[in-house]
Amino acid sequence: MSDDPVGLAKGLTNYGDPDFSLYLRRSFAQAMGYSREILERPIIGIASSPSGFNPCHRHMPELVDAVKRGVLAAGGLPIDFPTISLGETFLNPTSMMYRNLMSMDVEEMIHAQPINAVVAIGGCDKTIPAQLMGVANATMPVVQLITGPMSTSWHDGERLGACTDCRRFWGKYRAGEIDDVEINRVEGRLATTAGTCAVMGTASTMACLTETLGMALPGTAAIPAVHADRLRAAEASGKRAIELALMPKEKRILPRDIITEKSVENALRVLLAIGGSTNAIVHLTAVAGRLGIPVSLDRLNALSDETPVLVELKPTGQYYMEDLYAAGGLGAVLRELKGLLNLDCLTVSGETLGERLDAERAWVDRKVVRAFDDPIEPQGGLVALFGSLAPKGAILKRSAADSNLFEKEGRAIVFSSLEDLAARVDDPDLDVTEDDFMVLQNAGPTSPAAMPEAGYLPIPKKLARAGLKDMVRISDARMSGTAFGTIVLHVSPEAAAGGPLGLVRNGDRIRLSVKDRSIDLLVDDAELERRRAEPADNVTPEHRRGYKKLYYDHVLQADGGVDFDFLRDPDLL
Ligand code: FES
Repeated sequence: MSDDPVGLAKGLTNYGDPDFSLYLRRSFAQAMGYSREILERPIIGIASSPSGFNPCHRHMPELVDAVKRGVLAAGGLPIDFPTISLGETFLNPTSMMYRNLMSMDVEEMIHAQPINAVVAIGGCDKTIPAQLMGVANATMPVVQLITGPMSTSWHDGERLGACTDCRRFWGKYRAGEIDDVEINRVEGRLATTAGTCAVMGTASTMACLTETLGMALPGTAAIPAVHADRLRAAEASGKRAIELALMPKEKRILPRDIITEKSVENALRVLLAIGGSTNAIVHLTAVAGRLGIPVSLDRLNALSDETPVLVELKPTGQYYMEDLYAAGGLGAVLRELKGLLNLDCLTVSGETLGERLDAERAWVDRKVVRAFDDPIEPQGGLVALFGSLAPKGAILKRSAADSNLFEKEGRAIVFSSLEDLAARVDDPDLDVTEDDFMVLQNAGPTSPAAMPEAGYLPIPKKLARAGLKDMVRISDARMSGTAFGTIVLHVSPEAAAGGPLGLVRNGDRIRLSVKDRSIDLLVDDAELERRRAEPADNVTPEHRRGYKKLYYDHVLQADGGVDFDFLRDPDLL
């Protein structure tokens, strides 16, 4: 048994009389109908994140029930509690602004309440990163349970899943290839079950990285949200949490034993091999940063050079998360990468990654998960770019981009803000050709937009209608993991923080070289200095109170994981 106080006796409210505190706490707990006997058990806190504004978590109550079943059967007392929930498409200006708030909610509540171990349940884009950030420094064991991906649907004989297909059909609509009636029919068929986006978007990527890190039980990342196996995974997570809570203190596995430099490197490898979301770099930087583990973009490039893309999921390939589950799950990918992974990393199950992989069945569907020596791409899905336009780096998802555009110089067509973009991008008089580079400024972390997923700039309608499917687009924003295109993101430092991106003017030349990992603004220093002295556009309004003040006073750039400075390990600042 753990030598921490058990159950309600943990972390008593201090009235100067501990016996009175426990008596009072038990008395109020009994108001909820618990027997005195069950109140003696270790408590497993279930951090749940349901919300009427989060369809991806629609099945959360069922998952909570299944976790409770596992905890009760193994001798614990499960108590669920809500934290805030971040429904990706319902938040303004962007869910990214609230990821850190959710992480603080999770961190504070798991420590403030009498909890011996935690099952944290999340899924929609920012919720898993927020929970991992919030539990990274936890003083009790934590099992991460993922809500799981949506199942796919059909439209006139064609398989659909949010949200790569959302963007594909919207592109067709903008190009005039489909009409209002069809786009409205598609709208009702893209997201038809509970669960997270059905492709290798940010939610699925973070689910895979969570299992790779070892924070979720083996084999659980890809289970569809509505599959009975998902409920069994929830029950097993509850059971495992009580096992961890009952361990003697010296044997107890804490998140900091699992999230280590080596397991973070494994997560980066898997990110590259699955053609995962660019957002995951920011999130992993933030999670690791809570524990003083740096994530360097130079290291990402080195890993990318030797890590092949193996998974044929949209937006890189043609399949969906439910296909990955049927094809063998993430374990099939991990087995292919085995020679590159740090196999001595501990997982929440108590096994090392190597022990886990040795024990697994070897079946795999090669249509979905390719062999290491027969990859989709010989190099990783993501690459970091550096240069005079992005001194601290930028990201390109090359696995979802047009390689014909990788070595190119172009004329900048500049939009100074998202408002400016919306006002002008479809103007028939806009001077733009397919060889130009579209540049969006002031969409980074400290801008009024707060780094939304706006980096997937729409192709100007007149070019889309002429059949153009891709062109180079550059910004300090992020991009949905479900999107595709030759899109340079997370340019750092951002325009609003004085980065060179804010100095780009219409007609400037920019050179992109994926081969050289470079992105350069071809304007001489004297001219840039002259521009720097000009009054700034689109200044972030001053916030004098509330969460927005906290956010704008403390948010870091992309290379700091867009975390708050006071939450990141001080050694990394
Ligand atoms: Fe929730 Fe995509 S909107 S995962």
